[in-house]
Formats: sequence, structure tokens, C-alpha cells
Amino acid sequence: MTTEQCGQDQLPIGLFDSGVGGLTVLDAMRRLMPGEDYLFLGDTARVPYGAKSQKTIVRYSLQAAAKLIGQRIKLLVIACNTATAAALPALRETWPDMPIIGVIEPGSRAACEASPSGDIAVIRSGAYAEAILRRRPEAQVRSLACPLFVPLAEEGWFDGPIAEGVVSRYLEPLFEKSPAPDCLVLGCTHYPMLAAAIRKVVGPEVHIVDSAATTAEVVKRRLADKGLAHPQAGRTGRIRFFITDDPQRFTRTGSLFLNMTITDSDVRLVDLENVPLPDAAETPTQRKSS
Ligand code: DGL
Repeated sequence: MTTEQCGQDQLPIGLFDSGVGGLTVLDAMRRLMPGEDYLFLGDTARVPYGAKSQKTIVRYSLQAAAKLIGQRIKLLVIACNTATAAALPALRETWPDMPIIGVIEPGSRAACEASPSGDIAVIRSGAYAEAILRRRPEAQVRSLACPLFVPLAEEGWFDGPIAEGVVSRYLEPLFEKSPAPDCLVLGCTHYPMLAAAIRKVVGPEVHIVDSAATTAEVVKRRLADKGLAHPQAGRTGRIRFFITDDPQRFTRTGSLFLNMTITDSDVRLVDLENVPLPDAAETPTQRKSS
């Protein structure tokens, strides 16, 4: 059956990220909803988004979303913290009928619920601090920069002495003090790969909030509410990948992130620069993101 013939509930879920990090969100989603089909776009030619201006991140995100929506998808996940923070309102304004879910709101809600003390550490993303303080104005949010975490994860060094050494160098100063935060938010989609090393350093009591898992739960609920969950029970969905640069590096690192073999035939090189955007995308207004 072609996507033209099938019902909306049988369409794939689209996800995009600046690179491979969003595969942790895809991994959480495929574990929770194995019967769904997924189309993942990694803008590997233009990663990282974090170093770009907001205007550029919005343009890149509109192009990525337009590419996925042009393929027919039933729901879009922005599997990237940077793109969620910069572009979620613009995407919702451009495609008001498409359910669009970012990673920051699910992650910050989970952090607010998980932290009895309200003393919450966030690695990397300022947008989490805003979202947490909107929900819990009395919270104390401590932001940490851990710039070596992304290259470590991309290298596949998820645990062992090197990963643990780097993680403890960044996190120990905060977590060995008393009182220490009781919750740690992983504010980048690469970081769940380092969760075991992080757990070793922060100890068993600290709640580690991984927006991949919480976003997957939000997506599952949204599909159920909208009657869009795949109707065929027991099936195993198909996963396809669009990328904008060298497939070889993506298949290697992506296979590590997903813990499954990505083959060349699953991956297609696409061009985002020339994707036609809807008229509404030309002047999206800037609103608060979540
Ligand atoms: N995975 C992206 C995120 O969660 C990576 C960061 C970037 O491209 O700046 O923000």
C-alpha cells in the first residue's frame, strides 16, 4: 500500500535533529511504540545548530520540517533541544494542523515532578531553566556546560574510564557538595548515551531526566488522543533516515546510538537548501518556545 492510499494513522512519525543526537529520541520512541514507522532527518551537513544565530536555526528547522512534512507524516518531533528552543513556535505557526512536539517541555515537566527540593541541575540548555521556572518559580536551576560530552558520545565512548573521568570532572564539583541538586536534566539529545557514566558519578539518589524517554511518552499519548496510533497490533515498524552529509559516518555513529545496524539502503542523502517552504514560513512571528 502506498502512503497515498493508507489512512493517516498508518503514516510515519517524522523526527529531525541537527545530527545524530536525536537518535536517542528515536530509540526511546521505537522501544515504546515498535509498531510505528519512523522517518528521521539528521541535518549532518550543518550540525551543530547551537553555534548558529536564532534566525539561522529557525530557517534550518523550517527546511527540515518542510522536507519531512512533504513526505507525509502524521506527527513531527523536534528531536533537538537547540531547534526546539529556537524554532518550535515558528513551526507550529507554519503548520497549524500538524501535531508538533519539542523535547524541552516534556523534559522540564518531568524534572519539576521528579525533584522534591526544586534544586535542579541542567546540563547545557538555557531554555530548560526558563521552562522549569515557568512551572516552578521557586526552583533553583543550576546550569552546567559540559562541552566534551557530545564528542565523547559521537565517538561511542559511552562508559569506561575515559567517559567516567570526563563526566566526574564536570559533575563532581556540583554533586559532591551538600546540598546537591536532587535532579539532573540531560539538556541535549546526545547525553542519554552517557547516562550510565553519569549515574556512576552522581550516585543512585539523583533523578536523571532524559527528555528522550519523556518525549516518547508524550508522543504516545498525543497519538492516542488524536486516534493516530498505528492500527495494526504486533507489527514492527520501518525506520528510514534522511541525512544531509556523508552517509558513512552517520551509519557508523547512528548504529551505536540506536543499538541496531543501519544499512546504506535505509539512508538517503537529501538537500534541504532548496526545499520549498509554505508562504506562512516567510515571516513567522517569534514567540516563547517550550
Ligand atoms: N542534538 C542537539 C540538541 O539536543 C545537538 C546540539 C546542536 O546541534 O547544537 O540540542
